[in-house]
Amino acid sequence: MDEEILQLLRDAPSGFLSGKEISRRLKVSRTAVWKRMEQLRTLGYEIEASKRSGYRLIQSPDLLTPFEIKSGLTTKWMGKKIHHFQTVDSTNSKAYQLALNGAEEGEVVLSESQEKGRGRLGRQWFSPPSLNLYLSIILRPTIPPHQAPLITLMAAVATADAIRKVSGLIPQIKWPNDILLRGRKLAGLLNEIHSEMERIHFVILGIGVNLNMDEKKFSKEIRSIATSLKIEIGETVSRKAFLQSLLLELEKWHSIFLEEGSAVILNAWRDRAEVKGRQVKVTSFGEAIVGTAIDVDSDGALILKTKDGIQRRVMAGDVEYKEKVKS
Ligand code: BTN
Repeated sequence: MDEEILQLLRDAPSGFLSGKEISRRLKVSRTAVWKRMEQLRTLGYEIEASKRSGYRLIQSPDLLTPFEIKSGLTTKWMGKKIHHFQTVDSTNSKAYQLALNGAEEGEVVLSESQEKGRGRLGRQWFSPPSLNLYLSIILRPTIPPHQAPLITLMAAVATADAIRKVSGLIPQIKWPNDILLRGRKLAGLLNEIHSEMERIHFVILGIGVNLNMDEKKFSKEIRSIATSLKIEIGETVSRKAFLQSLLLELEKWHSIFLEEGSAVILNAWRDRAEVKGRQVKVTSFGEAIVGTAIDVDSDGALILKTKDGIQRRVMAGDVEYKEKVKS
């Protein structure tokens, strides 16, 4: 009934709707309506009550409930079904299970916090409640498994663009898919694939974005290398508005990838990463490789030229930037 009440208030032409009218439309008593209003207020909805005009919704809280997200979401298919949790171990694990059980392309798992948020290379992803975004999206692309890394590059481009649209700041992608502002990590992607040799069953796009974390909330170890959008722009960011923008960008870039092919994605990624000519140290499977980044390959691998002139391709690892080389 909460959602029905909110919808009635949102649709009220003058903004106000009388208790009598709400109780008539929902076929419940006036006392029941009053109780629901109190309940909504405890959730953070600001509702004005006037004896003469009735109830009016003044402001909604920044909740990530499906109801809130869907109002104002302009995607065609992405995020049309949202699974929202107060806490989960990891949204990726939850989405993986849902996908195994037949969940459809575009379904989204969101959680206010994660108990075992997972990062790349076996790391943890710090996931305190109600400040940031932790989401996983189920995709079922009809592409061969070797093209799956391109989905990761595509998602990094979409995330960077959502950040730019919401904040006006220009983020940089660090290979393969860290999103940085002022050289500090703002968002990370952990994408997982379920496939057989010739066919992808599904991809889970896991995205974590630090939106409203204050600096002191980050652990000492990551404080100097991490940031949040709030730290960067100096004001609280609407998680709902950011998520809506992110889903729209992901839907857009996903269809560009399927319709126009991988070259467009690679070029978009190159524009936002500016990796060419950088002096880098890559740690890959325990090996440290130092060299100059040449490019990203058509399968998403990083191509490096080492000091002794040897060209190396790195499929997975951690990149550390040295200073940029002038070409
Ligand atoms: C990284 O940069 O190391 C990747 C971080 C990915 C974190 C997100 S938060 C939502 C999703 N669920 C997880 O457990 N991890 C990803």
